[in-house]
Amino acid sequence: MNIIVTGGAGFIGSNFIFHMLGKYPEYRIVCLDCLTYAGNLSTLQSVMDNPNFRFVKENITDREAVCRLFEGEHPDIVVNFAAETHVDRSIEAPEVFLDTNIKGTAVLMDACRKYGISRYHQVSTDEVYGDLPLDRPDLFFTEETPIHTSSPYSSSKAGADLLAAAYYRTYGLPVTISRCSNNYGPYQFPEKLIPLMIANALNDKPLPVYGKGENVRDWLYVEDHCKAIDLIIHKGCIGEVYNIGGHNEMRNIDIVKIICRELERPESLITYIADRKGHDMRYAIDPAKIHRELGWLPETKFADGIKKTVKWYLEHREWWEDIISGEYREYYKRMYSN
Ligand code: NAD
Ligand code: DAU
Repeated sequence: MNIIVTGGAGFIGSNFIFHMLGKYPEYRIVCLDCLTYAGNLSTLQSVMDNPNFRFVKENITDREAVCRLFEGEHPDIVVNFAAETHVDRSIEAPEVFLDTNIKGTAVLMDACRKYGISRYHQVSTDEVYGDLPLDRPDLFFTEETPIHTSSPYSSSKAGADLLAAAYYRTYGLPVTISRCSNNYGPYQFPEKLIPLMIANALNDKPLPVYGKGENVRDWLYVEDHCKAIDLIIHKGCIGEVYNIGGHNEMRNIDIVKIICRELERPESLITYIADRKGHDMRYAIDPAKIHRELGWLPETKFADGIKKTVKWYLEHREWWEDIISGEYREYYKRMYSN
């Protein structure tokens, strides 16, 4: 089996590569990533010498480069993780989100049509469903929930999902789509809530909580997400959407307090700041379909996953310290100075 994994130098894509190379030593994995600010080659260091792994630095919007890669590699499966992923950056500058997330998806699927593949998997997000009210804990996102987006990021991901469904219906491209809730774990870029709070707490810096910190996210350990995608590409039904989530809803403020406790830092570091524009209140996935049809269940409890994550960031300071000293420093200043 020959698999192209796009966006594999980022958080979830790299964890997926580690999972696949470990579980299927006979598979060949080719990572296609253009190394934006969010991509790090150092993340992939441990697999660079694996003869079944190849890294290719190209942009998924570059049609010629993508076709060249398909011509040389003849992939059986393409798993598309490559995306601009940070909601706050999409509010600041939406255009690159449209280029990568929508056009890039179309370029990849055109190459799949041209060269033939057995599966194109689109890694999507629960954010395409919009948000749920805090006072209706009985409501969850199912695969039938209408798409109703809030941010330029989620709108661009929804655009990609609609295109993928259209390529399935119009051209018969063998597509599957997964929509996962918030991931956490090793190698997450420190602009996202959990690693940002860990890094700031370790540096005794303020912990910036948007609004009142009452927004709810449904957290899933990254390995569980990778295992779900592994199941979908091998056993999932073509043309189907699968929601992925572990019924682990938590308020942002409670997450930040847990991190303070884990790192023995005072809660007085918590600083309430201006809310995100259009901030989604609550995400909550109903994962009944992937459980019923593919037997998937999350394996890591949040209490264990957050301990493992905090430990990983403690033991890999050089990885994230390197990141927060570069472009991120300018972004952080723009984003948080007021
Ligand atoms: P990330 O930001 O950590 O990594 C994105 C990767 O894509 C980086 O390595 C970057 O260099 C690469 N990339 C960006 N633009 C590219 C382009 N034009 N061409 C080639 N490579 C490009 O992202 P992540 O958090 O690992 O998310 C991966 C995927 O999972 C995304 O599609 C995202 O929408 C989806 N997702 C993320 C979460 C989450 O909680 N992080 C949850 C559900 C779904
Ligand atoms: O739900 C899946 C999505 O989860 C993915 O599709 C996105 O790619 C991923 O970035 C994530 O989106 P969120 O916006 O939920 O994640 P983020 O880590 O940016 O924020 C989580 C919550 O924490 C959100 O309610 C905003 C809040 N927050 C975030 C930051 C960075 C803060 O209060 N302070 C912060 O500094």
